[in-house]
Amino acid sequence: MGMMEKARVKAQADVKRIVLPEGDEPRTIRAAAIVKKEGYAEPILLGDEERIAAEAERLGADLQGIAVVNPETSEKFAEYAAALYELRKAKGVTEEKARELAADPMYYGIMMVKLGDADGLVSGAVHTTGDMLRPALQIIKTKPGTKVVSSSFLMDCPNKSLGEDGLLVYADCVVMPCPTAEELAHIAVSAAETARTLCGIEEPKVAMLSFSTKGSAKHELVSKVQEATRIAHELAPDLLLDGELQFDAALVPEVGASKAKGSPVAGHANVLIFPDLQAGNIGYKITQRIGGAEAFAVLQGLAKPCNDLSRGCSVEDIVNTVVLTAVQAQ
Ligand code: ACO
Repeated sequence: MGMMEKARVKAQADVKRIVLPEGDEPRTIRAAAIVKKEGYAEPILLGDEERIAAEAERLGADLQGIAVVNPETSEKFAEYAAALYELRKAKGVTEEKARELAADPMYYGIMMVKLGDADGLVSGAVHTTGDMLRPALQIIKTKPGTKVVSSSFLMDCPNKSLGEDGLLVYADCVVMPCPTAEELAHIAVSAAETARTLCGIEEPKVAMLSFSTKGSAKHELVSKVQEATRIAHELAPDLLLDGELQFDAALVPEVGASKAKGSPVAGHANVLIFPDLQAGNIGYKITQRIGGAEAFAVLQGLAKPCNDLSRGCSVEDIVNTVVLTAVQAQ
């Protein structure tokens, strides 16, 4: 059974409520119908009820049994606006601004998750990554013990000799453009946790990537990865983690053995931590487009699960992201 198949079965076993703020968007409507029919989650669509019903009819999507909520007319609107004001008043949000934000499906959906009326959120078929992330960062915040929200890409590679039966976890490829050494260490610990909970990788082997292996090059960028490795060891002393390692030293057993002798990770890494967002984002796209891997993105480090979609996503991508969000919520 592949990674995604396992996640689907897991999601069906303990059904969670996942809110979809882009509720009148055609791919989202189709995905909600599939999610409901297959029992992967209890989807909640946000938006104008009549508009969503008309769109569903046009698409031939069955929304029976799916909750549709219009933020502006919902009975929870005043409660969410008041709670939003309390959460953000120190940041200059007025009561009027809070009401304006609560009417926005993106913020309304985030408030549903914050106040426990939904277990997770999936958005981004229309919103940019930044517009989806900002409300989550401002309101849901990080989980205890985690300093940063970041992302992992779960890369299902055709070459099954790589990582964990072809599965590799890449981080961070979405959120933090230029992490400090400390932030990079937190990203590594979160990615190992994602590997365990979402990919069923019992023993994550984390490689802190660089253009240098074990001091082969000297540069401030290399020093940052070395420092991140040191901090990550402090944060998670039992985690199999090593750095700095080049990509081939992390993945290829012979290269790892010759360049990083005695490393518990080199040559066998299944979690790869990129030094910044440029490297991570380019790296996952190369693996996907040239390496033929399937790529699934999740956010990590948030107190409650919220996940971003690519604006070019397919209906299947949305269904998969809802499934992964539901599993994160369990
Ligand atoms: N972890 C935790 N909290 C964070 C993080 C983080 N990584 N980043 C920002 N925050 C918090 C801030 O502390 C702040 O909280 P506060 O308002 O309570 O004080 C709040 O989030 C907003 O912070 P800003 O700095 O104002 O947010 P900013 O405008 O810088 O946006 C964002 C943050 C959206 C994550 C930004 O870093 C970003 O755009 N990242 C890149 C996203 C992107 O384009 N990715 C690539 C494309 S995706 C793809 O290819 C799949």
